[in-house]
Amino acid sequence: DPSEIERVMKTAPVIPVLVVKDVGKAREQAEALVEGGLKVLEVTLRTPDALEAIKRMNLVPGAIVGAGTVTNVRQLKQAQAAGSEFIVSPGLTQSLGEAALSSGLPFLPGIANAGDIMRGLDLGLTHFKFFPAMAAGGIPALKALSGPFGQCLFCPTGGISAKTAPEWLALKNVLCVGGSWIVPEGADLDEIKARAAEAAALAG
Ligand code: 3PG
Repeated sequence: DPSEIERVMKTAPVIPVLVVKDVGKAREQAEALVEGGLKVLEVTLRTPDALEAIKRMNLVPGAIVGAGTVTNVRQLKQAQAAGSEFIVSPGLTQSLGEAALSSGLPFLPGIANAGDIMRGLDLGLTHFKFFPAMAAGGIPALKALSGPFGQCLFCPTGGISAKTAPEWLALKNVLCVGGSWIVPEGADLDEIKARAAEAAALAG
């Protein structure tokens, strides 16, 4: 049901992309993000503690915690077992797409070109992560793709910053953007909360 991923995408203008290295800090970082106004949190499965981080962040009231960097069916199952409320992938394969649809979880697969989008449409998907957004051509590329694929809605991610996020959010087929700039390595909780509040105030 595309309305479920749309609800996730419309919750806040920015989805923080998190690379959790210290699971001991996961819960308090999630609290800082939610207090700052960003409820949707994408925990990338790139670190050994990512699944445990998803479990701990899920304990934070109001947080909507999903798994990112899900590249195959095995990771999808692990992410679901850890309590992920949505799934983000950097790209789209038929096997992952079919498994994600049958999991019942809201799914945001990465696309970078027309062929990727067409594979998604074949599966019944209309909501995509545009990744890597800057390297794949930036705003001109997404605008060009919106011609033939006007029915699709996007969350551009990859190379987006606090400074450039508003330009992306101004596009009518962009519901939110993703980025790791909200939680830079070594940032303390006050800084995370301030960055989240700045991002949450952007027009979605
Ligand atoms: C992702 O996994 O979505 C990207 O690594 C995030 O990209 P960024 O670090 O350029 O924001």
